[in-house]
Amino acid sequence: MRESDTMRTVIAGIASYLPQKVVTNDDLAQMLDTSHEWIFSRTGIEQRRISANDEFASDLGVVVAKKIISQTGIDPSEIDAIIVSTTTADRRFPSCACRIQGEIGASKAFAFDINAACAGFIYGLSVSDSMMRTMGLKNVLLITAETLTKFVDWTDRLTCVLFGDGAGALLLQLSSDTSRGIISTKLYSNGEQEKYNSILSHNGPQNGHRGYTTMSGRAVFKYAIEYMSSSMTEILSENNMTIDDIDWIIPHQANKRILESMCKMKDFPLEKVVITTQLHANTSSASIPLALRDMIDCGKIKQGDTLLFTALGAGLVWASSIVRL
Ligand code: COA
Repeated sequence: MRESDTMRTVIAGIASYLPQKVVTNDDLAQMLDTSHEWIFSRTGIEQRRISANDEFASDLGVVVAKKIISQTGIDPSEIDAIIVSTTTADRRFPSCACRIQGEIGASKAFAFDINAACAGFIYGLSVSDSMMRTMGLKNVLLITAETLTKFVDWTDRLTCVLFGDGAGALLLQLSSDTSRGIISTKLYSNGEQEKYNSILSHNGPQNGHRGYTTMSGRAVFKYAIEYMSSSMTEILSENNMTIDDIDWIIPHQANKRILESMCKMKDFPLEKVVITTQLHANTSSASIPLALRDMIDCGKIKQGDTLLFTALGAGLVWASSIVRL
């Protein structure tokens, strides 16, 4: 038996960071033909944070990395790897992860970015968990850093009201305590959905701008319900668990109405679903760590709780994971 078979990847710390600027639905109604009532009733969003013009994904990542270092007391030289999930990297290269590594002085770490859109946090958990257990890495920083508000068309009222910026960080450690940690992850992709029906994408650079997010809202709504619910059902069944074994479902926070409809149509208990959409809007892969940190801070989620994460994003990609804190 390899050592890694008796080890678990555990969450040893969670930090989050939000840019300073708060923009409410009423603020948006000053610049667009929209209203708080329209946005709130269709999405549950009340406000979002917007990064400054000179504040990019790696800047958010550096702040949240420093926060988790000070929170957990880890020495940066002990970090083996930095994995950053971002859909909105500052530049094509170098990666956000390399910049963060340099800024925090994690001299022994290797560093790279992944892009799995709004499912990137769960993809990052899965990649981290596999690498830790196969390579024997002891400390990995998994960071999610997103600045989607830099990639929306601020004249397109259908998309621009939905997104916000933010970052999360997890310190993952390899532990012999097998009563907690990452129990399972399941990842899925279907690029054909995008080929035949441009559901959710970035349209690439346009006339000197970095390009915009385009979306077929109703298709995203439908696929989010179908795929998040089926992946949760599959991961529970593969682990011989039922929803009764789960304390909290923490889904990607795209839209409160998607989550309410999913619970109603697919028979998931809404009272177990964490919803923070009202505070942050859709922060892509940062949304689950932001929600998790908020729920720990308000005392709802505690050490020992069993969590079910689920998310869907552009690709399409989707994923679920079961983790015991
Ligand atoms: N304010 C006011 N009116 C708006 C508006 C806004 N921000 N955006 C669109 N509208 C209008 C439309 O122009 C349309 O008007 P019309 O009937 O006169 O043509 C009307 O509202 C309804 O538009 P529609 O697109 O049918 O709305 P909808 O009920 O499908 O809701 C979404 C739109 C985007 C809220 C909904 O489809 C959704 O939540 N989809 C999922 C989006 C998502 O979560 N994406 C990210 C996933 S990672």
